[in-house]
Amino acid sequence: MKDWVRKRRERDPYREKARKIGVRSRAYFKLMDIDRRFNILKTGDLVIDLGAYPGGWLQYISSKIGYDGHVYGIDIREIAEFPDRPNITTIKGDVFKKETIEKISKMIKENKVDVLVSDLSPNITGIWELDTEKIYDYNKVTMRYIDRFLRKGGTAVIKSFEGRYSDRIIKMVKRRFKWVAKYKPKASRKRSAEFYIIGLNYLGKDRKTFIKTSREQSDLKP
Ligand SMILES: C[S@@+](CC[C@H](N)C(=O)[O-])C[C@H]1O[C@@H](n2cnc3c(N)ncnc32)[C@H](O)[C@@H]1O
Repeated sequence: MKDWVRKRRERDPYREKARKIGVRSRAYFKLMDIDRRFNILKTGDLVIDLGAYPGGWLQYISSKIGYDGHVYGIDIREIAEFPDRPNITTIKGDVFKKETIEKISKMIKENKVDVLVSDLSPNITGIWELDTEKIYDYNKVTMRYIDRFLRKGGTAVIKSFEGRYSDRIIKMVKRRFKWVAKYKPKASRKRSAEFYIIGLNYLGKDRKTFIKTSREQSDLKP
């Protein structure tokens, strides 16, 4: 490990805290902060978590919803099992693939969920033009999952990044939810362009918006 990476890690209080309380990622504290502020998770909720590896958010959600609830965590990477948490199911899949949507549908038996959270993040290349396009695609694909799986009145949390398309992304959420907020949790690194959009009270699919993802590998048609 490079010296500067090691130093940054040592200085990171959230990484240290995560290690101490035995949670899988520092991201755990971002969702905790969002939940404490916006009260998004309740006992008995059915939840979808997109981009869930390694599973910090899953651990937080699992404790909040209790054993009457259930959370489905989806990631392109294999998420290690949670043997002591029967209210977590993990699904390995690429969110841009139709088969992933089908897998989720089967698992939740065509039910709708109360909450959909997305911490999906592309590999950032540092090439601004490319990165903003990628982020926009991830946010658009998240809208598809919301329209397919979230119940009316439900809640969503969507990770995004400041950039060329941020206003457009916020508009897409505003067309679907009665109440929308933009929030940067304390655990988000100061230098990071990341922020979260919180949508409360889902109104239903926005028919005016034509969602098209530019990713070549996407087989999700509008
Ligand atoms: C910031 S991490 C999520 C951290 C997680 N919320 C936690 O608490 O541990 C973003 C995740 O998005 C996943 N991801 C990126 N592209 C994806 C795709 N096309 N399909 C599914 N997952 C993807 C990555 O593998 C990565 O695990």
